Amino acid sequence: MEATPSRTAYRVALRRAAHQVFDDPVVFRDPLALRILGMTADKLELNQLRAPKRPYSRSLRAFVVARSCFAEDMLHEAVASGGTQHVLLGAGLDTFAYRNPYPDVRVFEVDHPATQEWKRALLQQNGIPRPDTCRYVPVDFERDSLLDRLVAAGFDGRAGAVFAWLGVVPYLTGAAMRSTLEVLGALPGSGKLVLDYGLPRAMLPPNEQLALDSLSARVAQAGEPFQQFFSPEQIGRELGDSGWSVLQDLDGIAINARYFAGRSDSFGVLGKGARLLLAAKHQQEQG
Ligand SMILES: C[S@@+](CC[C@H](N)C(=O)[O-])C[C@H]1O[C@@H](n2cnc3c(N)ncnc32)[C@H](O)[C@@H]1O
Repeated sequence: MEATPSRTAYRVALRRAAHQVFDDPVVFRDPLALRILGMTADKLELNQLRAPKRPYSRSLRAFVVARSCFAEDMLHEAVASGGTQHVLLGAGLDTFAYRNPYPDVRVFEVDHPATQEWKRALLQQNGIPRPDTCRYVPVDFERDSLLDRLVAAGFDGRAGAVFAWLGVVPYLTGAAMRSTLEVLGALPGSGKLVLDYGLPRAMLPPNEQLALDSLSARVAQAGEPFQQFFSPEQIGRELGDSGWSVLQDLDGIAINARYFAGRSDSFGVLGKGARLLLAAKHQQEQG
């Protein structure tokens, strides 16, 4: 995947676009979700997605939608107490930076250089301007010094930040994940971290194992195989060893209660394999 743009980034962007078209009510309203792909509602390339109305496809879409909502909710809370920095780690085609409603919040889009270049071309092609608050930070988590590049882009390590690492951790090696967690955990400023992770196959019931096998095969075929899964205890230890405390670790039931309660269309996350986590730096876990 190093020399080519991330195909999984394209697929999750399609899911956010499909949410605008297929799900009512829309939970994650993103007026740029279709536009960044150069699509309109009637031209959404449905053939790129596995049947969008199938239960498993809806569930994946619900998870993608929920994690974006969760990250933006956490940013909203941080802004209310003076936060000014949002860091999208593995930004993919996330559109937050281009609809950022907070004039004082700088958004740092960290991504693999090939994916970032592709995104910038898409933004240009589709007439989406880059606000002054948006900074690009090309980084390969497996090789580059994240902090040096963030600082070069204007990031202030003392000022605190919300870090959103959405749909990325499963694709990294343990070493790259750990070094990133350690670097961010050691910054002097306050910090919140939102990430998602998957439970190990052996912890899942048989029907979910099959669904995971199918998804694993698809991402591997896209050249971005899953590399790591965690139990809640394991990820809690990884975070704890790197300066982070887990504040929330949401399973499918908790995600559905938070974002999809009371719907008549049963749109929501199926099963318990995918989890959404919020962590804070050790010293501010009470804050
Ligand atoms: C599934 S996409 C998720 C994108 C975005 N966070 C979202 O939710 O739409 C995975 C993202 O992780 C990035 N990524 C994966 N491995 C990476 C690495 N080693 N260094 C930098 N970015 C990486 C990819 O470029 C891609 O943007």
